[in-house]
Amino acid sequence: MAIEKKWVFTLFSVTFISITTLLFSISFFISSFAFISTPTQFPSPIQYGNSYPPSFAYYITGSGGDTDRLLRLLFAVYHPRNSYLLHLDADASDEERIQLALTILKVPVFKSFGNVYVLGKPDRLVYMGSSNIAATLHAAAVLLKINTAWDWFITLSSADYPLLTPDDIAHVFSSVRRDLNFIDHTSDLGWKEYQRVQPIVVDPGIYLARRSQIFYASEKRPTPEAFKFFTGSPWVTLSRSFLEYCISGWDDLPRMLLMYFTNAILPQESYFHSVSCNSPEFNTMSVNSDLRYIVWDNPPTMEPHFLNVTDYDQMIQSGAAFARQFQKNDPVLNIIDKKILMRSRHQVAPGAWCIALKNWWTDPCSKWGDVNVVKPGPQAEKFRVLMSGLLNDSNAELSRCK
Ligand SMILES: *[C@@H]1O[C@H](CO)[C@@H](O)[C@H](O)[C@H]1NC(C)=O
Ligand SMILES: *[C@@H]1O[C@H](CO)[C@@H](O)[C@H](O)[C@H]1NC(C)=O
Repeated sequence: MAIEKKWVFTLFSVTFISITTLLFSISFFISSFAFISTPTQFPSPIQYGNSYPPSFAYYITGSGGDTDRLLRLLFAVYHPRNSYLLHLDADASDEERIQLALTILKVPVFKSFGNVYVLGKPDRLVYMGSSNIAATLHAAAVLLKINTAWDWFITLSSADYPLLTPDDIAHVFSSVRRDLNFIDHTSDLGWKEYQRVQPIVVDPGIYLARRSQIFYASEKRPTPEAFKFFTGSPWVTLSRSFLEYCISGWDDLPRMLLMYFTNAILPQESYFHSVSCNSPEFNTMSVNSDLRYIVWDNPPTMEPHFLNVTDYDQMIQSGAAFARQFQKNDPVLNIIDKKILMRSRHQVAPGAWCIALKNWWTDPCSKWGDVNVVKPGPQAEKFRVLMSGLLNDSNAELSRCK
């Protein structure tokens, strides 16, 4: 096993910028392993651009023991037009990572469209520290490289689930300007100023140490004056142009703030928020919402309340695109699968591209039609209403970067 594993790792090593990243790429597998049963169908050509539905790059993170949840979430949000990068963090074993990649290969649609990737070399994700934002930027850089056409980058964790079909999401985003970012943000820091903004911390995850708790320095630092500090939800939907701005470094601001946030607590709740709102190019592009349904206990704890069947009606009425967080295999996920996604176990959520006759023994997505059309279902209307409220100029002006 050890030799085999090493060989797999060597074979698929890919270098991005100066960071060495290992990706298990489905398309690499196809070209290198002709003996794996060849796909029964050719994928239909995918068209990108403004006259076609938008495409999304999903970055989905999980930890040790999360393989099944990641797969379930992948099935629920899958569409051939999108790209998916799955990251099992350093707490998961290499065996789990390989198992995930091999399981994905067995699903004909993932294999044929070649748009699902598993990060082979994990990052350490220290919840409170900057290793989280470093991993997100790394994932965005990988996704920018893998696919040159997606419009939005969406972060999800294995505890999240969609409340809409992939067709619903693409349909509603079709009428949205593709340079908008969806970031829940505020500059009203309140109690966070003392407890979150002023402490100086060191995240050992960045230095590859074993220890996985952040260190607190005994000194605090004043709230910065060189830029305005924004904070909000760590779950974001970012435009391609904004991420190119953050990663390509043609302006100093993203780099300067990254240095500042390296020693901040929970930078994933502030980094994109502060960069977008302090940048003259992007501060009119931030829509103040994370598009998630999240319930906090009162008083709030570190993690939101676990949603269950009693939350179903409110969750659906909210019109949000995603909800968090759920326990593994909570029964409410089965209800979402059945009523909203029309998805059976181990099958992707069907969309207009799935044209096999639907009956209880065939997967509608075992036969493919045109992947460039989407057909919204009943839940799309609630999301459309939510979106038009968010984009309504008079509301948006009032909440943007304030
Ligand atoms: C759902 O969550 C609520 C609040 O935590 C709890 O009171 C209730 O018992 C849970 N219901 C089920 C069916 O688990
Ligand atoms: C936008 O919001 C304002 C104020 O809430 C409301 O009066 C107006 O009807 C809304 N416009 C649209 C197009 O929804």
